[in-house]
Amino acid sequence: MRSFLIFSLLFLFCLAVSPETPKSRKKKGPQLLPIQRTSHSRSETKFLLYSNTIEEGCLIEFNQFDTLEKCRFNASLPLVMIVHGWSVDGRLEGWIWKLAEALKSQLTQTNVIITDWLALAHAHYPIAVQNTRDVGQEIARFLEWLEESVQFSRGNAHLIGYSLGAHVSGFAGSYIRGARKIGRITGLDPAGPLFEGMSPTDRLSPDDADFVDAIHTFTQQQMGLSVGIKQPVAHFDFYPNGGTFQPGCHIMHVYNHIVQYGITGLAQTVKCAHERSVHLFIDSLWHNNQHIKGYWCKDMQTFDKGRCLSCRAKRCNILGYHIRKERVPGSRRLFLKTRAQMPFKVHHYQFKFRFINEFKERQIDPTFTISLTGSKDNVENLSITLVEGITGNKTYTFLVPLEIDIGELMMIKLKWEGIAIWENIWNTVQTIIPWGKGDRRLGLIMETIRVKAGETQQKMTFCSQSLDDLHLYPGQEKMFVRCEVSSQRLR
Ligand SMILES: *[C@@H]1O[C@H](CO)[C@@H](O)[C@H](O)[C@H]1NC(C)=O
Ligand SMILES: *[C@@H]1O[C@H](CO)[C@@H](O)[C@H](O)[C@H]1NC(C)=O
Ligand SMILES: *[C@@H]1O[C@H](CO)[C@@H](O)[C@H](O)[C@H]1NC(C)=O
Repeated sequence: MRSFLIFSLLFLFCLAVSPETPKSRKKKGPQLLPIQRTSHSRSETKFLLYSNTIEEGCLIEFNQFDTLEKCRFNASLPLVMIVHGWSVDGRLEGWIWKLAEALKSQLTQTNVIITDWLALAHAHYPIAVQNTRDVGQEIARFLEWLEESVQFSRGNAHLIGYSLGAHVSGFAGSYIRGARKIGRITGLDPAGPLFEGMSPTDRLSPDDADFVDAIHTFTQQQMGLSVGIKQPVAHFDFYPNGGTFQPGCHIMHVYNHIVQYGITGLAQTVKCAHERSVHLFIDSLWHNNQHIKGYWCKDMQTFDKGRCLSCRAKRCNILGYHIRKERVPGSRRLFLKTRAQMPFKVHHYQFKFRFINEFKERQIDPTFTISLTGSKDNVENLSITLVEGITGNKTYTFLVPLEIDIGELMMIKLKWEGIAIWENIWNTVQTIIPWGKGDRRLGLIMETIRVKAGETQQKMTFCSQSLDDLHLYPGQEKMFVRCEVSSQRLR
């Protein structure tokens, strides 16, 4: 069912036949050089200045100075420009207004323009892809005109492009004339099909603006294609939950969506992970006191081991509007987990268990339950499975994402699980291996648990309270308390 849906989405994405085919204009194929269209003084792209009071936004017409005054464009304020993506129904999607509203209400001293290129976006996907260059060029001409007519500096412009709109913004950045660049481009799940693996001049890339960031949310590959681009295209590329698929977007929700939206619920589900990039960005505006951090990492498997929670040497950054605009060489892939709804923030912890394992050669049940007591809140009965299994004497590290803010971690309760399944084996172990000296059973010994909090960068060590017996026995709960603050030992 799920692959069927994803297939349908890709089918829609790549081959869609719009109900009425718009504009039978003959389009040239992708090309590397700017198309010279200097004779055009009009633009097919509409620029709508958003304000909370005007329903549809105020139309600023290219080369019409009076429309700038009429719409009250303020050239001394920064400009954020929203650029939508490919359109199936020829209408502006709901997220555009949500993003515009979040921008306008959180950044009051800002011009917010909605770029409406529906005329060229409402077409077969490959045609819309070809049109992205022309639209990028129109945006470039518009910004040049603002510079000439009202001395608006392009360095103050921030283009936010969703899906195909991300590449439109990239083309705007590469077509703008003169030595200086656009200030910032944000790509929200930049489109993958026909862009993945292309040269930097044929897609959004870090050279397109002084600073480029991207959020990748739907790069799950089906038949060699993914809706969002997988490769990094920015200075900082965020991959929430690995970037492939998003929590809360699972096919199970299709039924709820159909109940809520009727048959268009299907489209809601399909769009869910792709559009999540937009809602993460909106979240960063509404909850700007709760920054969501991403951490530089090789891949999600490594991140899941909790190995990448460092913020040293620009290794982490803030997702969304309030990102630190630091330049780094090349692109950095940042990973993070999120919740399924807004606010999306989770708190990331790395746990390190070091066991002394007295069961030589024997596989032991690797499941644990932990309860955490923090200065603000508690979390009970988190189930932990050490996926590698426990063999020999090793340190196990893993990521624990918490949906709530527990404050500073004070105490850990740990229980080695698996009694039901393992009890028999436990009994066998006891009969095979005679009880040791002092009449105690063999077991797993754990003296300390080390923890690092990603969000606060705090490192902590917890020691067992029962120093007389450091063994863990199945089903028994052990308490670990703080014994060393800011330990430097944890890396
Ligand atoms: C433009 O914004 C600046 C800075 O907030 C303000 O001082 C100025 O009055 C504004 N101009 C107009 C025409 O509203
Ligand atoms: C956690 O587990 C313990 C023991 O099984 C139980 O008594 C307690 O109610 C559980 N807490 C929650 C919040 O489920
Ligand atoms: C782990 O180390 C302890 C003592 O340090 C040793 O007795 C035990 O045999 C080791 N376990 C394994 C599986 O190597």
